[in-house]
Amino acid sequence: MSEICKNWSTWLKKTRFSYMDEQQKEQTLNWLIAVRDSVLNLADLKEGQKIADFGCGSGLLAFGVLERFEDKVELIFSDKFQDCLDECKKILNETNIKNNAKFLISDVSDIKLEKNCLDRLMTRSVLVHVKEKQPAFNEFCRILKPTGIYAAFEPIISENTRYYELLNSNQISDYNDFQKAEKEFMENPNDPLVNFNAESLDKNLYEAGFTDVTVNVQEAASKYIPTKEAILNWLITPPAPDQKSMKERFLEYFDEKKVDNFILEVQNALSQKEVKITSKTAFIKAMK
Ligand SMILES: C[S@@+](CC[C@H](N)C(=O)[O-])C[C@H]1O[C@@H](n2cnc3c(N)ncnc32)[C@H](O)[C@@H]1O
Repeated sequence: MSEICKNWSTWLKKTRFSYMDEQQKEQTLNWLIAVRDSVLNLADLKEGQKIADFGCGSGLLAFGVLERFEDKVELIFSDKFQDCLDECKKILNETNIKNNAKFLISDVSDIKLEKNCLDRLMTRSVLVHVKEKQPAFNEFCRILKPTGIYAAFEPIISENTRYYELLNSNQISDYNDFQKAEKEFMENPNDPLVNFNAESLDKNLYEAGFTDVTVNVQEAASKYIPTKEAILNWLITPPAPDQKSMKERFLEYFDEKKVDNFILEVQNALSQKEVKITSKTAFIKAMK
């Protein structure tokens, strides 16, 4: 694991933004706020409800609930990792916001709550880190009350633009080998980041027992004129604390000299040129 990426709260605060300049950081924060508000709106929150944010991280969704409802809802911050809950507690203590909040350390695949106990359950970018998604959805359905709602956001990374799609075969030595490797690891059924799409999420949710499921996929196109440094950072930044960077993934196929040469060639091919990347995301609403 990378030294710059020791645990989730550090990754959430520092690593995920490490390759961005100030303007990109601001755009990303604005995007996160828009995503948060969409998930909260989908959840149809109301006063008096018992609401949980699972895989809360630094509390993006949960603090959004507090901003809207303060102590007029019961709110659970839950995460698998204590460092995330500690971070949320620290932020909560630093604010004067009235609250009725609890903290629950729990894996989404085995939630320490009784059945039918929540009105609303939300997640953002959590299932993308869980290898087996069905047990988590089963748990969500179990702990929601009848007529309860699950609302979520997930990036569909398996359908993002790939490096080989941005490059021409004459720009990269052994282009076909790198294309084959990237295709293989971006379609690895054992990799939680890429082993799902909108159809599999829909299927998982119905199988878990939800009765009315909407998985709304949105495609966004972004344009960048990256520097060589930014390209290097794309390739060496881990997508999660426990996940390999692109460079580390290529190192499973090729030796370091060959991968470093690939990185140089990618930098030469793409730096100071307009790069267009599309990414897909899913907004999910499931009623029990
Ligand atoms: C990308 S972060 C998202 C954090 C937060 N939901 C947000 O929107 O900023 C993923 C979060 O999922 C948590 N997580 C990963 N695997 C989990 C699991 N199996 N059970 C519960 N939480 C998990 C991590 O600790 C991390 O806080």
